[in-house]
Amino acid sequence: MKATKRTMGISYAIRDVLLPARELEKKGVEIIKLHIGDPNKYDFETPKHVRDALCVAVEKCDNGYEESEGNFELRQAIVEKERKKNKIDVEVEDVIITNGVTESIQFLTAATVEPGDEVLAPGPSYPSYMEFTKFFGGVPVTYRTIEEENWQPDVDDLRKKITPRTKFIVVINPNNPTGALYSDKVLKQIADIAGEYNLFIVTDEIYDLMTYDGTHHSPATLAKDVPMVLVNGFSKVDLLPGWRLGYSVFRDPTGELDEIKDAVGRQLRLRLSANAPCQMAVIEALKHPKDHLGEMKRKLQERGDFAYKRLNEIPGLSVRKPQAAFYIFPKIESKRWKTDKEFVLDALHNAHVLVVPGSGFDPLYGKGHFRAVFLPNTEILGRAFDQLESFMRKSK
Ligand SMILES: Cc1ncc(COP(=O)(O)O)c(C=O)c1O
Repeated sequence: MKATKRTMGISYAIRDVLLPARELEKKGVEIIKLHIGDPNKYDFETPKHVRDALCVAVEKCDNGYEESEGNFELRQAIVEKERKKNKIDVEVEDVIITNGVTESIQFLTAATVEPGDEVLAPGPSYPSYMEFTKFFGGVPVTYRTIEEENWQPDVDDLRKKITPRTKFIVVINPNNPTGALYSDKVLKQIADIAGEYNLFIVTDEIYDLMTYDGTHHSPATLAKDVPMVLVNGFSKVDLLPGWRLGYSVFRDPTGELDEIKDAVGRQLRLRLSANAPCQMAVIEALKHPKDHLGEMKRKLQERGDFAYKRLNEIPGLSVRKPQAAFYIFPKIESKRWKTDKEFVLDALHNAHVLVVPGSGFDPLYGKGHFRAVFLPNTEILGRAFDQLESFMRKSK
């Protein structure tokens, strides 16, 4: 029996690489996994008051379905957060709760992309934007981000890639997989281009409070008149990836996104609701000060600096310093491997270190690179980089 082409075409490099790693683990090989952006797998723990709030929520709520758009009080708390953090003027009706940011990306793409339509995302890019675009028959197009400039977007390239089929522009800042933090100048330029071509921006801000060099600014703060959908969630900053909660905020002063909002609302109702007790409990995470964040950022900055230093010492690799999040995106300078996928599999089998091929984040601007997370402590990272180094020296 046949499955559809659209599903058989799906790939998600970050998890796909785990399959060969599992085979090795079955044979008793110990693999150091630097492939997935899940801080809870390392020494980062969900704050106790948020975990407690979930136990209380299960007792307090009726454990029935939630409203399709999401818990009202949670949406109010998000309005407060967005007004304070990004200085945008939005109401509860502009906020929807989804099963992770992933579902926001899925619903926005489904609501806008007809076969042949294009979505313009940074290259390299978080894979969901490209994969959902393809799933709905669209064509993902990437605008270049410039490695030599710490992966800042090339706005001239972005402008050149706009066509009559472009539906929206994606900004991922701070960026996964490069760890870049975009400058205000670049963000303003992107917003101006969106305004000029009558496009809206999807601004993915899931790492907004996780910066080391500088502060995150939303394009929504910098350009008040361009319609934008801000997507954000609780998987990273709040250490709740397993709760699968995210949100979209429609910042749309002139109502240009009304039909798209309606189309997203229909999908929300079709999938009934997001997890009810988790929504109730996550209000705690928004209302309390994020006391865990200082220590978390301190550890991550130390690990990021260490990863940057060690990776640059390995012959055949070069890397830019990440300014945010917990990803680093080295370039494979060595010509020993034909593709980044070949490199990643070879490193898995011979260095026993699992990373993700850069082409999984964009065949064009991601190729010849790999993504690693610097979530483990420096002892584990040190072992991983030592193993990688001796593998690279032997493979010359
Ligand atoms: C930029 C970006 N957007 C969205 C997501 C997905 O987040 P969620 O867990 O909320 O679905 C990730 C996860 O790594 C991400 O890096």
